[in-house]
Amino acid sequence: MRVTIRAPRPDDVVPYAEAVRRSAAHIGRWNPVEPDAMPDLLSRQGAGLRTFMIVDVETGGLVGKCNVANIVMARFCNGVLGYDSYLPFVGTGRMTEGMRLVVERCLTSPELGGLGLHRLEINVQPDNERSIALARRLGFRHEGFTPRMLFLQDAWRDHERFALTAEEWPTPVR
Ligand SMILES: CC(C)(COP(=O)(O)OP(=O)(O)OC[C@H]1O[C@@H](n2cnc3c(N)ncnc32)[C@H](O)[C@@H]1OP(=O)(O)O)[C@@H](O)C(=O)NCCC(=O)NCCS
Repeated sequence: MRVTIRAPRPDDVVPYAEAVRRSAAHIGRWNPVEPDAMPDLLSRQGAGLRTFMIVDVETGGLVGKCNVANIVMARFCNGVLGYDSYLPFVGTGRMTEGMRLVVERCLTSPELGGLGLHRLEINVQPDNERSIALARRLGFRHEGFTPRMLFLQDAWRDHERFALTAEEWPTPVR
């Protein structure tokens, strides 16, 4: 593996800000560009939100970040994935490797150190081909279309909804 995943830490604040700033052009097309968001993100980690930093093993650089948000346990055991990748690692396949580790951790039982989720969801704007390709590479199924789902780039944006349940994992590497 070229990458590893871990929880965010206070010493991520500066490298995270730098990674987001140098990646603003490709992130900003689809997601908010928030280089100074790490302190707030650290303070919000808990039962409903877990963030994973995807780190390049060789250099220690930040490959990407994945939020597992809206976590609901009980009879749902569901989380929603949101992610960005950062230069210079964009398009090298490392983000896909890291997201496989994130999905694995999400679907692993708490006794084995995972989050114990049963279902994961990814919502993507219809024109976001890179993100849709990533979701499909991970084995997510297209479930449906959600009009006006999220307020992004100053408008309520439609999203395609993808999901995967534990029964479908692991999917063959693509
Ligand atoms: C969506 C996003 C996270 C994808 O990240 P990425 O860095 O392109 O992810 P990867 O490098 O793992 O993607 C693999 C791509 O690299 C290529 N690649 C290059 N070398 C590779 C290797 N050694 N192994 C695998 N793939 C490799 C693949 O062919 C693939 O390209 P393709 O999608 O054109 O087929 C990134 O584009 C991003 O941050 N977008 C802006 C924010 C965003 O859209 N977030 C999601 C909102 S729903």
